[in-house]
Amino acid sequence: GRKVKKIMVGTNLTSVVEFILLGFSDLHNFQGFLFGIFLIIYVSILIGNGLIILVTKVFRALHTPMYFFFGNFSFLEICYTSVTLPNILTNLWTHDRSISFLTCAIQLCFLLILGSTECLLLTVMAYDHYVTICKPLYYPLIMSHKVCVQLVVGSWTTGIPVMIGQTYHVFSLPFCDSNKLDDVFCDIFPLLKLACSDISVIEFSVYVVAVLFVMTPFILIIRSYVKIITTILKLPSNTGKYKAFSTCSSHLIVVILFFGSATITYSRPKSNNSGRTDKILSLLYTIVTPMFNPMIYSLRNKDIIEALKKLLQWLGSSSI
Ligand SMILES: *[C@@H]1O[C@H](CO)[C@@H](O)[C@H](O)[C@H]1NC(C)=O
Repeated sequence: GRKVKKIMVGTNLTSVVEFILLGFSDLHNFQGFLFGIFLIIYVSILIGNGLIILVTKVFRALHTPMYFFFGNFSFLEICYTSVTLPNILTNLWTHDRSISFLTCAIQLCFLLILGSTECLLLTVMAYDHYVTICKPLYYPLIMSHKVCVQLVVGSWTTGIPVMIGQTYHVFSLPFCDSNKLDDVFCDIFPLLKLACSDISVIEFSVYVVAVLFVMTPFILIIRSYVKIITTILKLPSNTGKYKAFSTCSSHLIVVILFFGSATITYSRPKSNNSGRTDKILSLLYTIVTPMFNPMIYSLRNKDIIEALKKLLQWLGSSSI
C-alpha cells in the first residue's frame, strides 16, 4: 500500500517508487478556487478546439489543406492539455499529490512527443502559408491530399522514437534524495533536479533534442515568414496585401504565443528556487496556446466564423 511505499522512500534505502507533485500545495486555502479555474480552462479548451475540429470536418468550404492542418492542430491541442490538466484537477480535488513512477514516465513521454508534434505541425502550417502566398500557381500540385496526410502523419510520428529514448534515459537515472517534484506535472527539468547521479550527459542530449525539435522548426517558420512578408510587400494593391496577410496572421499569433511562452518557461534561471511564478509559467506554456488558438482563429477568420454560425443555427433549430 501507499504507507509502505512512503516508508521505503523515507528511509532512502531503496529508490523512489512514486513522486509527490508539490504543485500549488503551498496555497492551502485556494485549492477549491484553483480547481474551479483549471476546470473552466480545461472545459473551454475542449469545447473551443472540439468545435474547430467539428466545423473543419463537416463544412465542405473548409475542406482545404489549411483547415485540414488547422483541424488536426486543434485535435493536438486537446491531446496535449489532456496529458496534464486532468491530473492537476484530480490532485487538487483529492489533495493526493502522489504520482507513480510509471504514470510520471508516461506523462513525460506524451508531453515530449506531443510537444515535438506541436512544433512540427506549426512548421507544416507555416509551409502551407508559404506555398499559398509565394507559389500560388503550384499550390494544388504541391499540397495534394496525399502530401497533406504525409505531412501530418510525419509531424505526429517523427518525435516518437526520440522522445521514448529521452524518457527512458531520464527514468533510468537513480532518484534517491527526494521524491518531491516541485512542479504541477512531470516535466523534464524538475525530474533532472531530483536525480542523484551525474546528469551532464542527459542534459546535453536534452539540448540536442531541443535544437532538433524546437529550434530547427522555429528557424524554418521564421524563414517561411520572411519569404511570405517579402512577397506580400511586393504585391501591387493594398487590398491584396491585406488579404494575404490576414490569411497567415492567426497562425503567426499562435506561433508567437507558443514559442514565446516556451522560451519564457525554459530560459528562466535554473539555479534559483522554483517558486510559484515558475509553476504558473510552466502551466502557461501548456495552457495558453490551446486556450487561445480557437479564439484567435475564430475571431480573425471569416470562413470559420461563417461555419460556426451555421453550426450554431443548426444546433438551435434542431433542439427546438
Ligand atoms: C490528426 O492526425 C493524426 C495523425 O495522422 C490522426 O491520428 C488524427 O486522427 C488526426 N486528427 C484529426 C481530428 O483529424
